[in-house]
Amino acid sequence: MSRRLLVTGGAGFIGANFVHHWCQTYPEDRIVVLDALTYAGNRENLAAVESRENFQFIYGDICDRSLVDHILAAEEIDAIAHFAAESHVDRSILGPGAFVQTNVVGTFTLLEAFRQHWQNAGKPEAYRFLHVSTDEVYGSLGPNDPSFSETTPYAPNSPYSASKAGSDHLVRAYYHTYQLPTIITNCSNNYGAYQFPEKLIPLMCIHILMGKQLPVYGDGKNVRDWLYVNDHCRALDVVINRGTPGETYNIGGNNEVENISLVQNLCQIMDELSPNLPVSPAANLITFVKDRPGHDRRYAINANKLTTELGWTPSVTITTGLRLTVEWYLQNRDWWEPLLSEEYQAYYWQNYVASTIKT
Ligand code: NAD
Ligand code: DAU
Repeated sequence: MSRRLLVTGGAGFIGANFVHHWCQTYPEDRIVVLDALTYAGNRENLAAVESRENFQFIYGDICDRSLVDHILAAEEIDAIAHFAAESHVDRSILGPGAFVQTNVVGTFTLLEAFRQHWQNAGKPEAYRFLHVSTDEVYGSLGPNDPSFSETTPYAPNSPYSASKAGSDHLVRAYYHTYQLPTIITNCSNNYGAYQFPEKLIPLMCIHILMGKQLPVYGDGKNVRDWLYVNDHCRALDVVINRGTPGETYNIGGNNEVENISLVQNLCQIMDELSPNLPVSPAANLITFVKDRPGHDRRYAINANKLTTELGWTPSVTITTGLRLTVEWYLQNRDWWEPLLSEEYQAYYWQNYVASTIKT
């Protein structure tokens, strides 16, 4: 059965990778992207698919109910892959309001519109609402705690993770109350092509190329579980096509790494691949800076359910994935240089400089 898929946030990092994956895997399917092109959204990320006949980009906000209603009806959408979000923890600390608006109110708007649309169509079983969420809703782990499973209680610690948790609860409630065929995925940290340069890996790659300091928060011993973005997209494909409505699936890379060792690893790869760096060895740029407020210590995902029930496993090791990612940032200066705009510099100053000035 061919699908007519609405991808919210498809001009962002994971959304764009997902659109590329879907267009390659299911060329007969119709893809409609709805994206508000915030600072993190970039139409360039979709340049390779823009000219396809069965692709449509729509500039707009997921909180705009009449626009969403119109798209669902006019495009006869049968599945939503919902990526649109404010996604950066540091920005949520500086300004939480946008996170509640997009992540909670936006998700609610989509759910209500999709419920109406699904009812109008006679509640087809094949319709899907895939809600792409995060492992951060589970809070922070101690060094010897077992990794997060689908039954781990929610304990979000940042405005970002709290707003994602709120949206997860709404999605869950729409299945239980209305039997709307929703599925939730909670994934660990992604990395790969098209990631906006304020997140750890692209920020470090770009700073190494520019000879700027590499700001490591706190003692650098916080642990994240890294997953190559293409593997996340493969997992979402499996979940949309074979997942059970009402279920949650955790997605993770089984790649727990301390931030400091990840940054050191990136420095080594850069030293090797780029012989004319402004500062060499690149590790000389590593600078420990003030910690993120409320910084979660450790995340780790148990993805056994997805493996056992749906047969997904990650295919790219962290060694291969990091090298591919560094190569991508080396080869795509034209993509990232324009993103270092005035707005970006203002954010950078506020997050890294202003917070350290004593008043
Ligand atoms: P991103 O910030 O790169 O992209 C978000 C996209 O959503 C952008 O294109 C932006 O323009 C769009 N958007 C924001 N507000 C919107 C609105 N009101 N209406 C329409 N579009 C809007 O984020 P990402 O890293 O690609 O994350 C995508 C999703 O995956 C998010 O829901 C995030 O919570 C989740 N997630 C991310 C990671 C990760 O490591 N990046 C891991 C797990 C889950
Ligand atoms: O776990 C999944 C989450 O991963 C997603 O839900 C979020 O959308 C995504 O942004 C990411 O959140 P993190 O906060 O883990 O990612 P970030 O890249 O911002 O930071 C990764 C780690 O690196 C974290 O421990 C903070 C640290 N860090 C980050 C930056 C930007 C630094 O030490 N220095 C930095 O400059």
